[in-house]
Amino acid sequence: MSSKQIPSDYQPAPELLAGRRILVTGAGDGIGRAVSLALAGHGATVILLGRTVHKLEAVYDQIVDAGFPQPALYPLNLAGAAPDDYQELANRVDAELGGLEGLVHNAGILGSLSPLLHYDEAEWMEVMQVNLNGAFFLTRACLPLLEQAADAAILFTSSNVGFRGRAYWGAYAVSKFASEGLMQVLADEVEESGTLRVNSINPGRVRTGMRAAAYPAEDPQSLPAPEEIVMPYLYLLGPDSHGINGQAFDCG
Ligand SMILES: NC(=O)c1ccc[n+]([C@@H]2O[C@H](COP(=O)([O-])OP(=O)(O)OC[C@H]3O[C@@H](n4cnc5c(N)ncnc54)[C@H](OP(=O)(O)O)[C@@H]3O)[C@@H](O)[C@H]2O)c1
Repeated sequence: MSSKQIPSDYQPAPELLAGRRILVTGAGDGIGRAVSLALAGHGATVILLGRTVHKLEAVYDQIVDAGFPQPALYPLNLAGAAPDDYQELANRVDAELGGLEGLVHNAGILGSLSPLLHYDEAEWMEVMQVNLNGAFFLTRACLPLLEQAADAAILFTSSNVGFRGRAYWGAYAVSKFASEGLMQVLADEVEESGTLRVNSINPGRVRTGMRAAAYPAEDPQSLPAPEEIVMPYLYLLGPDSHGINGQAFDCG
């Protein structure tokens, strides 16, 4: 399956996401932080989920200071979370916000770059837990809320190594292949709904901590900042992508 791009002249309406409640995992840093700010800036109430509270609080303050809709803050470490924790999260979203129109599976860890023969067992489990199992459990817990919405979207985050395996990228690459599979299976299951769509997005090379860890010799200034790649997220989470389901998108 070849990846798609959003229309090159896409211009989101200023209040594109007004009234939408959108949960973003890994919202405290990197791409998740930039996406959360952009979603809030276009009218969404963002549920900021992540593992480092002070980072989430900084994003929260930035959103409030900008006068955007007040976000919700949800500290959760996906590495240690159990299925019940995800259900509790969904229950709280329902009780406190009354619904959910968007879910962005952005949190991820790289793990070690290592030959499979020597791949650390605990690290394999953790990468799979954060990058794949967490996304599955969170999706399952939130699905009833998303299915109740008049228009809703789920976005998984992919990577080049999730389409073509690369030596030493181990659990990270495999988790991204599997996330793409999860996206496709779910997209097929909701195809008839007409209200919920499920797609994936490959950010490409972006100036974040994860990228720097993977490519330590690369000049970060040669890469786009996270703020520069948010447009496809707005498109795929808002009404302009209505009817697009089961597709893999590139950021640019
Ligand atoms: N940057 C790139 O070039 C690139 C390319 C392709 C795909 N991606 C994908 O894009 C997504 C975002 O990556 P990024 O580059 O923005 O990386 P990043 O700057 O390292 O951010 C990752 C985010 O995930 C959160 N996270 C990690 N482990 C977590 C856990 N156990 N529980 C909850 N949250 C956790 C981090 O929280 P803390 O800050 O608290 O650790 C952080 O907010 C990832 O899925 C990544 O695979 C990135």
